Amino acid sequence: MKFDIVTIFPDFFRGPLDFGIVRRARETGLAEIRVHDLREFTRDRHRTVDDRPFGGGEGMVLKPEPIFECLEAMLLAPPEQRKVPGARQSVVLLSPQGELFDQNMAAEMAALERLVLLCGRYEGVDERVSEFIADREVSIGDYVLSGGELAACLIVDAVTRLLPGALGNQASARQESFTGGAAESSPGGGPDSTCASGGLLDYPHYTRPAVFRGMAVPEPLVSGNHDEIRRWRRRKALEKTLHNRPDLLSRVALSEEDRKLIAEIRKNGSRD
Ligand code: 6GU
Repeated sequence: MKFDIVTIFPDFFRGPLDFGIVRRARETGLAEIRVHDLREFTRDRHRTVDDRPFGGGEGMVLKPEPIFECLEAMLLAPPEQRKVPGARQSVVLLSPQGELFDQNMAAEMAALERLVLLCGRYEGVDERVSEFIADREVSIGDYVLSGGELAACLIVDAVTRLLPGALGNQASARQESFTGGAAESSPGGGPDSTCASGGLLDYPHYTRPAVFRGMAVPEPLVSGNHDEIRRWRRRKALEKTLHNRPDLLSRVALSEEDRKLIAEIRKNGSRD
């Protein structure tokens, strides 16, 4: 899969995308990441990328011309071919005004051949970019960043690890938090499996030593009883979700056993 990142800070991307799974995906050719310096698409001596807002007000706005020219140089499919279901390319404007990025959007993006990420900066980007060349506007959360660069790294990471072959163990992509929705219908992803998926937060993990500075690993995990382990993990996933992200519970398919566990957690609080 090809990623094209358009930014006024190309050096920002030296580092964040050079480690771990993203690095390996790049080295093996699974992911190709190109960073485009917006200033190379300016024509004036000062390489101007921004200007004052029409109508007045604070701050500067990214000009449309360099962004349009940069995109034209990429030779993408025409916009009408990018917006149909099953399209293989997408142009995304990163801004706090966008649709919220989540695991389902990451999975959708992982099915593309090419993803263009336009990093917004300053107080805004000329709206004609969103209106005429971006296919969608995407935000990574309800807070304001000084630019889209961190958001671009985050999206590249979340999408790359979903590319077939990017993770050593394909099962681990399915078992973790947020692999809800589609995963509910996939084998091993439902609420009855040993994994805490189906849209809940992940269950806690432990490794050796079994006792560290007096802190013991929960007994069910060392019991060797697989049904007990499964039930403990499900309970912990429910506990964590109830505590940290109760909003997720309303979207999850809960079994009868889950409902009993939740009632018990609400009554007694957490326990090992
Ligand atoms: Cl994509 N950009 C900026 N500047 N701020 C954000 C964001 C993006 N997502 C959340 N906040």
